[in-house]
Amino acid sequence: MKDKVLILTQQSGGGAFGSRRKYLHGEFSIQMKLVPGNSAGSVTSFYLSSGDGPGHDEIDMEFMGNATGQPVVLNTNVWANGDGKKEHQFDLWFDPAADFHTYTIIWNHKNVLFKVDNLFIRSFKRYADLPYPGAKPMSVHATLWDWDGSYWATQKGKVPVDWSGAPFVVSYRAYSVDACVPADGGEGSLLSCPAGTDRWMNRQLDDAERGTVAWAKRDYMRYNYCDDGWRFP
Ligand SMILES: *[C@@H]1O[C@H](CO)[C@@H](O)[C@H](O)[C@H]1NC(C)=O
Repeated sequence: MKDKVLILTQQSGGGAFGSRRKYLHGEFSIQMKLVPGNSAGSVTSFYLSSGDGPGHDEIDMEFMGNATGQPVVLNTNVWANGDGKKEHQFDLWFDPAADFHTYTIIWNHKNVLFKVDNLFIRSFKRYADLPYPGAKPMSVHATLWDWDGSYWATQKGKVPVDWSGAPFVVSYRAYSVDACVPADGGEGSLLSCPAGTDRWMNRQLDDAERGTVAWAKRDYMRYNYCDDGWRFP
């Protein structure tokens, strides 16, 4: 993929690009430089999705814009069979608009791993009795939208997009997919995989990587669905 930008104006309502192919497990990464300054009300995403229908699977990295000087929050989420609400949200330890940073999703039979630059921040494990995106092929998407009024938008939707700052621009480069492709293009289990899928096929965190997940949780986590007694009494 060539370097790309997505542009959000009031007229355009944002933009998107995505893979034509669907993949079943793999490592997906991209470098992004987010909207600088007042990005309140905007949301930039890099995610995998099996489609729009009910019962879909999805793996999300979403960056929720904020007023100048306020932290952009990274929302990570995993959906299985239409069941989401597994958010972990983090502040970043750098200004994501100042430079490009690499955002990576590793997805295999055992877990979904989220990585920012070279640091893992979350591991979503598969448990036998809980929903997991295990079998539906997913395509890759990058989007820039405005999220006015949404619960997750800036300060729960109270701070709208300031269109006087438009156009809002997000730059993307170094898109990389190392993944299996269903041989029949559909839901089949027959896969065509690149050589050396061990890189991610059985990837789980080692002790040091579990350490960075604990560090991100301790120092940067802003929201954890597990602790949300209001949504999940
Ligand atoms: C924006 O900044 C405020 C104030 O620091 C913070 O409470 C909020 O979580 C940030 N992110 C969003 C998406 O509102």
